[in-house]
Amino acid sequence: MSSNFPCRICAAPVQEFFDFGRQPLSDAFLAPDADPAQEFFFRLAVGVCESCTMVQLVEEVPRDRMFHEAYPYHSSGSSYMREHFEGLAKRLLSTELTADDPFVVELGCNDGVMLKAIADNGVRHLGVEPSGGVADVAAAKGVRVRKSFFEESTAQEIVAADGRADVIYAANTLCHIPYMSSILTGVRTLLKPSGVFVFEDPYLGDIVERTSFDQIYDEHFYFFTARSVQEMARRNGLELVDVERLTVHGGEVRYTLAPAGQRTPSGAVAELVAEEERRKLADLVTLREFGESVHKIREDLTALLKQLRDEGKTVAGYGATAKSATVTNLCGIGPDLVPFICDTTPAKQGRLSPGTHIPVKAPEAFSGAYPDYALLFAWNHAQEIMEKEQEFRDAGGKWILYVPDVHVL
Ligand code: SAM
Ligand code: TMP
Repeated sequence: MSSNFPCRICAAPVQEFFDFGRQPLSDAFLAPDADPAQEFFFRLAVGVCESCTMVQLVEEVPRDRMFHEAYPYHSSGSSYMREHFEGLAKRLLSTELTADDPFVVELGCNDGVMLKAIADNGVRHLGVEPSGGVADVAAAKGVRVRKSFFEESTAQEIVAADGRADVIYAANTLCHIPYMSSILTGVRTLLKPSGVFVFEDPYLGDIVERTSFDQIYDEHFYFFTARSVQEMARRNGLELVDVERLTVHGGEVRYTLAPAGQRTPSGAVAELVAEEERRKLADLVTLREFGESVHKIREDLTALLKQLRDEGKTVAGYGATAKSATVTNLCGIGPDLVPFICDTTPAKQGRLSPGTHIPVKAPEAFSGAYPDYALLFAWNHAQEIMEKEQEFRDAGGKWILYVPDVHVL
């Protein structure tokens, strides 16, 4: 285990606290005839900065390997998330986008799930999205998209073409981007002095509390807290002025940054920073304990799946999430334990899961002949999925969950 390496935010030493070993790219679903020898692996390990407290990956995967024409994740796949983003769009329209001819930019707009609601209201907008396939889906919905990675130079080009923005928004995207100084310099260039940068990402406080270790994979480079975001903002001429806890994706925080000195921070910021301090969230001891809990889940889950296999029970995976790559590869779960995973995403169907090569099938494979058990990899969409799959329960089917611990429902 490497002892420390320089922080990507402040260059102080980062202490590694958990090593997931060799892991594949979480969204690289293989064609059945692909040469497995060509599969890309990297060392997935995570550490905490002893100065700014940012939790981050040890190794960076080149961005073009993850975000490209065939990036398979479509944000609109969940009806609950569609409502979430429509609600956010409505709120921005009535609070931050009330000036004459407002302009909003979204980083990582994906298939346009949020910006469609902005476009429908005739508000000037731009999505910046490097993954060509999903960007095309957004454009087909009437969303204005620029196919590129956002970084400092992109911001300058957008200002030259469109002027400065009232709102820059990013959901489940900022934590994907290691080159943060370029991003935040770009944000400062693009944002009006009165503007805000709003972003929401998985919250380290929820990850530690629920041992949701599967939030850790190639694309999730940073694991934010109010404290670490405050430090990151300050180093880049910005200020954390609001935080809001969200229940989506297993627990997130929506952060609002403004140019330094422009807005008074809400009481919620100091409260959350104080709570993190009380919980010793960034302490190595806390994070090593989290690691112990991960080992326990790994042991319990593999034991349960082996027992069910030996008893002749059938088990299917539900939701070929990016998160599931961490679970299957850490626990050594292959087709012998979980013969297939069902998923609604056409781009994943007919392919093999990264690393352990479990076939991904359309949801009909699940409903056509219910298994005895379903391992819910998409646990963050549990409510939506369990409601939809009530017939599976009625037929005697049981759900296996592994967050916050291994249990059967
Ligand atoms: N915002 C959507 C949501 O919350 O469902 C999509 C999230 S998806 C997990 C992350 C998105 O970030 C991908 O569509 C990816 O192509 C995009 N992305 C990655 N790096 C980026 C960058 N530097 N600038 C803009 N988008 C980026
Ligand atoms: P996410 O947890 O990163 O949002 O990924 C969810 C995955 O689960 C995505 O591949 C779509 C899939 N999914 C289903 O198969 N059925 C569903 O009902 C939902 C909500 C998601």
